[in-house]
Amino acid sequence: PSTGPSNNPFTHSSSRSPAHDSAVPSAYTSASPSASTPASTSAHHPAYSPTHNPFSNSSSYTWGNPTDSTQDYKPGRKKIRQNMSFLSKRRALPIWPYKSEIIRRIEQSQVVIIEGETGSGKSTQIPQWCLEVENVSKVVCSQPRRIAAISLANRVAHEMGVGVGDEVGYVVRFEHKSSLTTNLKYVTDGILVRQLMTDRSLEAYDVIIIDEVHERRLVTDILIGLIKQILPYRPELRIVIMSATLNKNKFSDFFENCGNLKIPGQIYPIEKIFSPAVIERAAFGEDDQKRYEKYVIQAINVVMEICIMERTQGDILVFVTGRDEIDYICEYLEDLCVTYKDSMGTIDIIPLYGELPYSSQQRIFAKAPKSFQGRISRKCIIATNIAETSITIEGIVFVIDSGKVKLSSVDQKCHMKSLLPVDISKSSAEQRAGRAGRTQPGKCYRLYSQDAYEAMANDTIPEIMRSDLTSVILQLKVMGIDLETFESIDQPNPDQRQLALERLIQLNALDPYHNVTEIGRQMARFPLDAEVSRMLVASKDYSCQNEILTLAAMLSGDRPGSVFVLVGKKKREKAMEARGQFAHPSGDHLTYINVFNHFKANGCREDWCFDKFLNFKILNEASTIHSQLEHIMIELNFLDHNSLRYSSPAKDSNILKAILTGNISQLAQRDPLQPHVGSRQQFITVLDNLKVTLHPSCTLSEYTQYELLCYSSCLKTNARKSYISTVSSINMEWYDEVAGTTGAPSLMKRRAERMHLLSFMTELELSQLFNDFNI
Ligand code: CDP
Repeated sequence: PSTGPSNNPFTHSSSRSPAHDSAVPSAYTSASPSASTPASTSAHHPAYSPTHNPFSNSSSYTWGNPTDSTQDYKPGRKKIRQNMSFLSKRRALPIWPYKSEIIRRIEQSQVVIIEGETGSGKSTQIPQWCLEVENVSKVVCSQPRRIAAISLANRVAHEMGVGVGDEVGYVVRFEHKSSLTTNLKYVTDGILVRQLMTDRSLEAYDVIIIDEVHERRLVTDILIGLIKQILPYRPELRIVIMSATLNKNKFSDFFENCGNLKIPGQIYPIEKIFSPAVIERAAFGEDDQKRYEKYVIQAINVVMEICIMERTQGDILVFVTGRDEIDYICEYLEDLCVTYKDSMGTIDIIPLYGELPYSSQQRIFAKAPKSFQGRISRKCIIATNIAETSITIEGIVFVIDSGKVKLSSVDQKCHMKSLLPVDISKSSAEQRAGRAGRTQPGKCYRLYSQDAYEAMANDTIPEIMRSDLTSVILQLKVMGIDLETFESIDQPNPDQRQLALERLIQLNALDPYHNVTEIGRQMARFPLDAEVSRMLVASKDYSCQNEILTLAAMLSGDRPGSVFVLVGKKKREKAMEARGQFAHPSGDHLTYINVFNHFKANGCREDWCFDKFLNFKILNEASTIHSQLEHIMIELNFLDHNSLRYSSPAKDSNILKAILTGNISQLAQRDPLQPHVGSRQQFITVLDNLKVTLHPSCTLSEYTQYELLCYSSCLKTNARKSYISTVSSINMEWYDEVAGTTGAPSLMKRRAERMHLLSFMTELELSQLFNDFNI
């Protein structure tokens, strides 16, 4: 009997259009999940189109001849390719003896949870073994980070002796190497969630592996929740959940009746040294001491200590919080290595953080340098928490742990994001220490006291409980899922959900009843933050598609703010002069567009970027993103090539109006209590009444009294300072014009709300009051 949509987990939203309904596979509308058969679910969605789905299945693919027949496979299992030269290494991995057991579990239960130490071989071996399972031809392994997805695909392609993009490939946002012949694909969690929007039951895969679930990233948790919904409808689908350490009960409770397997780790004893005595070998300038936390200076000293005093062979891994600190430590150590070469030996200093290009990341896998005059030579890797579990580096014997990590969170009441160093959890501290004992006994220098360790939380708070949910909620809404009824391992707090819904209403992505609008659907097509995709949708109304497309590409790379290279004092004047050539009087958004246009006009040349003090890698990446977004714009019929020429003065105001539409909740006004011309200006955010200042990277002058500013990010970088960055000056009159096209209230109403006046004054009285006080 058909019981209608209410029984169907994919039909919660009342907002779905008939066209959307047609995208639901017929199996979902059956009354009982068990009634669906694999055959019935394999029918493609009516809305499915190979051009929309980069993962489209190739029915013509057949297995190539395995290059080797010596592997130990059981009758009934398929043989897969492998490169013999890796076999002995693979066999030595702690996971290898469990191969048959793992395959058996995957064959027997729909969900298997596998817990194993970092480096035990989970991410490289299990996906390959899945390919041996009967009736399995397509395997996807999803990772929280792009760097891990790319480097694993490369590694596994080598182990199988195939090219990357052939049997083994990867897909990450704005970059992919995969083809119709790809049977094992490494992707990021975000890519898989996006794919779920068009392939709602992930028919493209027979096995889905979700790796590093212990990190509890927002998108990983969402992915796990979505995949749980598919299970009753695809009984033949196999799910493997993998993790370094696991709060196992949470995951097993979430997936009832799943199989659990723990791979015993092989860890040598690790000596843990708390708050080591600091040896003042390096003379740090006062500025450095003020600029950086104590642990940064301590970390440098401990590296020196190890290099000079330690007789044990082995590499060093330092955990700090971010790129700035890493670059600083690397530079400082490079200098010290030259000065103290005779006593330190040769040290290869290697930075490691997520946004590094793949080729630079490869340096961490290289062997330590040759010994120098009988002194031990070492690799010294300065990393973020990416080296905690995501990437395994061989040969580490010394770990230096700052005890800090940069965690992003969003203030529940306002919308300010913060990215602040906070204390790590005890489980992170243990993971970090564990990196020292993979190949021999090691040492972990903890740059904090035992008491500080005891005071740490047991586990890190999952991202779903501390993040901005705006883009995720829109994605779920478009899939017809309400976050209120969405089952996830931990539930977000209601304030967070409310905040995101309000933002989406203000952006016109949702109507006041929380139904997705056409604008919302168009926004969800872009793999971008909600604010940026709203700008793109608005660009059509203001005939500035090309410019907003460029801006979106510039804002969506890894570090949009760093397109201007920071230089030392000597070159600063020249760099500022070069920067001045691109500066637009309205602020950063149009300045970024200028930079990109000049980069293109000058043939995208690296030497040109060098001369202009611009970061070539960032511009190159923006160029790739630009082409991908252009593709989506064309699909949506957004690009018409008759749009006005950029040089037209009317055009700038159009561009700024489109930018304002996307950032309608991100406005700041000058602080009326600080009228002094000539002093550094403070601003107050319109939505939440916070005092902010312009970030030093801004094009606008800190000393000018702008009436209204629109910003792309608001960041609290330490307890005292809140900055707005990527800022443009906006004409007051534009606000009400733009707000009329969105769900945002009038500026006057907003100001009144801010001052709690609305309840006892009429709008007319208010406008008189604001005029009188020139607010
Ligand atoms: O997933 P898990 O942390 O358990 O281990 P893995 O990533 O499968 O690593 C197994 C082995 O492959 C380790 O010895 C790594 O050093 C090596 N590996 C590598 O050389 N290059 C990669 N991109 C990934 C792993």
